[in-house]
Amino acid sequence: MYYWAPCEISLARDLERIQAIVRTAARELVGADGATFVLPENGMCYYAAEDAIKPTFQGQRFPMEKCIGGWAMRRGEAAVIPDVNEDDRIPIEAYLPTYIKSLVMVPVRAAAPLASIGNYWARRHAPTQAEVNLLQTLADATAVAMENVTAYRELEHRVETRTRSLQQLMEDVESFSAFVSHDLRAPIRHIGAFASMLSSEHAAILPESARVLVHRISDSVKRMSSLIDALLELARCAQLQITKTRVDMRVLVEAEIAALRHEISSSVSFDIGDLPSCSAQPTLMRQVWSNLLSNAVKYSVGSDAPRIDIGGSRQGSEVIYCVRDNGIGFDSRNARELFSILHRFHAGSRFEGTGIGLAIAHKIVVRHGGRIWADSHPGAGATFYFALPVEESHEPVRTEVGSAFGG
Ligand SMILES: Nc1ncnc2c1ncn2[C@@H]1O[C@H](COP(=O)(O)OP(=O)(O)OP(=O)(O)O)[C@@H](O)[C@H]1O
Ligand SMILES: [Mg+2]
Repeated sequence: MYYWAPCEISLARDLERIQAIVRTAARELVGADGATFVLPENGMCYYAAEDAIKPTFQGQRFPMEKCIGGWAMRRGEAAVIPDVNEDDRIPIEAYLPTYIKSLVMVPVRAAAPLASIGNYWARRHAPTQAEVNLLQTLADATAVAMENVTAYRELEHRVETRTRSLQQLMEDVESFSAFVSHDLRAPIRHIGAFASMLSSEHAAILPESARVLVHRISDSVKRMSSLIDALLELARCAQLQITKTRVDMRVLVEAEIAALRHEISSSVSFDIGDLPSCSAQPTLMRQVWSNLLSNAVKYSVGSDAPRIDIGGSRQGSEVIYCVRDNGIGFDSRNARELFSILHRFHAGSRFEGTGIGLAIAHKIVVRHGGRIWADSHPGAGATFYFALPVEESHEPVRTEVGSAFGG
């Protein structure tokens, strides 16, 4: 006896494969002389596939009301016919030239049939209930497989549409970046140049109030330029290819601290604890440290003894890193907002910045499959964490310091 493998049909990814499995399985399941697979098609029945001792109806179409495949689908029930000559559901003129004497036809999905499956016998044979049940079981598995194929196609279609619109979006971002860098920079440069000509060449004839205004124009131009740079940097890190290697985080952190020490006048003490290596893109990772450490410095230099602790540890399937400072802190109930672009808690002249550093860090960490978050209280310092997935590798750790892009 033939044992058809239900898993074979559940793995079928297209209708042709389903038909191929079903026509063989149906016939061999009950030792019939032929099996057929019938599909509804614009009010007709299309005898799509068969496996038989002699060809019968394969490739032919009949009106739904005039064939037994259509009868099983319209009624949503099995047609059991021991003798085709004695059953008035049978269009006998179609059957006379064939070998078929007996048949059973079952619907695929009784509620809203998707197809029907039939078995034929060349001698008179009364199909038993067990045979009908076997065929119906095959039809039920076929229904699930056909529904899967439809769902699979829909998914594929959705993925294609999504991919197309993502590509479109990327192209839009690229052309926007090009627009920003070229078209927007030029007029800003002109405004800056004219403002500086005004203050250098016409200072003598400008009243004090006008000189103050010119100064303000120059400041705004500088701010606008750095905003444009920051936006371009964000767009750039969204587009960069991520090629991961083993990264020695300690090397990156030490390099970043050395760079920061050159920039700050007041003394800040740094304490570096454990810093496990990770699998990441080193330049982007340095950018994350750069943004977190420069914030820790910026928002703690005013405190009595600024101190920054850096560490990391493996926790389950992640390595979690943290940067803790004892600066002004913030109300961490709104911490999530900080990772969105241009969001600042401490705006104004006291702290310089554009509000883009954490958005960049967030983008980089998320692109590495990780997450980033913060914990703080006003006046009690802040701790920023980021977690990266552990990816086991036996590759030796060799991290070039490089520099975080953007300086
Ligand atoms: N360590 C910290 N302590 C207190 N507040 C912080 C800290 N880090 C970030 N913040 C708050 O989060 C805001 C966003 O930080 P982010 O780094 O994105 O921007 P920024 O530092 O203001 O400017 P820049 O674009 O130059 O980095 C900051 O303006 C500040 O209000
Ligand atoms: Mg910052």
